Amino acid sequence: MNKSRIIITCAKGIPPFLREEVLSLGFPVLSQGVASLETEGTMDDAMRLNLFIRTGQRVLFLLEEFRAQNPGELYSQLSRIAWEDYIYEDGYLCVTSSVDNPTIKDSRFANVKSKDAIVDRIKKRRGRRPDSGPERTGAVIDLYWKEDWCQVYLDTSGEPLYRRGYRKIPLKAPMQETLAAAVVLATSWDGNGNFVNPMCGSGTLAIEAALIAQNIPPGLIRNNYGFMHLKGFNESTWKELIKIAKTRIHKSFRHKIIATDISPEAVRAAKQNAAAAGVERAIEFAVCDYSETPVPTGQGVVVLNPEYGERLGELKELEGTYKGIGDFFKKKWTGYRGYIFTGNLELAKKVGLKAKRRIPFFNSNIECRLLEYELYEGSRRSGNGF
Ligand SMILES: C[S@@+](CC[C@H](N)C(=O)[O-])C[C@H]1O[C@@H](n2cnc3c(N)ncnc32)[C@H](O)[C@@H]1O
Repeated sequence: MNKSRIIITCAKGIPPFLREEVLSLGFPVLSQGVASLETEGTMDDAMRLNLFIRTGQRVLFLLEEFRAQNPGELYSQLSRIAWEDYIYEDGYLCVTSSVDNPTIKDSRFANVKSKDAIVDRIKKRRGRRPDSGPERTGAVIDLYWKEDWCQVYLDTSGEPLYRRGYRKIPLKAPMQETLAAAVVLATSWDGNGNFVNPMCGSGTLAIEAALIAQNIPPGLIRNNYGFMHLKGFNESTWKELIKIAKTRIHKSFRHKIIATDISPEAVRAAKQNAAAAGVERAIEFAVCDYSETPVPTGQGVVVLNPEYGERLGELKELEGTYKGIGDFFKKKWTGYRGYIFTGNLELAKKVGLKAKRRIPFFNSNIECRLLEYELYEGSRRSGNGF
């Protein structure tokens, strides 16, 4: 398949980090949106992006674009595309969409209309039609329809990329894997120094840090992608990409990655998740209060994602926790950079240290900040406690 435009979707707040990743893989960035970024390449490039990108959700390969005023025009335009060249007549198809057209009240209707156009065309040409449904485990077609402009994409990821496949036990309020990767990248930590993650929960931050430190592409953990279900899937290129990626993995790691949590259940889950990701030997786990987390000699980053009262925890109690984290940073972590990821800026004021940077992120729909504190002897107290 020829070169085309490729859209990589992501959560809001993540495009600057996704941009760095895309550029460092040697792709151009044609444009950047609130929750996406546009590049270009071939299907082989799309496979490479799926394998290496840490912070993106879906890699969408543009197939066609056209005008359609209403569902009837959508159907007839889609019927012109040679779907029999892309989708197996005995395969499985899922259609997803993002629709903003005055004739459509429910985007599910656009999905059904599109699916009908695709399977009717395949039935006409091949004598049978693929099964279809909501699972993204086979071929996935994505429709973006704004006013009368339609773009039709092959969703080369299938299931979104945050589903790395290692989180066997998610626990409560886990961070999406792609968000955790962006948080690690935002700290500028790249394996140079220690990475300490008290309050680790299901271990997502520590696991993503270990993947980064060992140069393990997140796509290696998963074995199902949308592109694998399309005709023309170049399996030998995919195997070659994987082979090359494996030779670049750093087997050993000089510094420490430490993950602790007060809950034995959380630490057990984090260990199992790390094992599923193949990085359990890179992380030291312990059950303890955050304030008892061992401080490895040397330098590095210490990252906490405390509960922030939206989904878990009681606010009053959390005020004490946030204040305690400020004291913990000041007393123990000289020479480190400290980070708190939170969706509650009122609670963040209780930390009582002046944040050097406040990096915006979104966790589901909650606006969050990654707060950075430089920790040195007598770290600066903030006037307003923030
Ligand atoms: C929001 S969750 C962290 C989620 C994590 N980032 C993930 O992706 O799964 C907060 C965690 O802090 C832990 N926690 C709460 N109070 C603690 C304390 N005083 N010391 C250590 N851990 C604590 C909870 O057990 C919970 O696992």
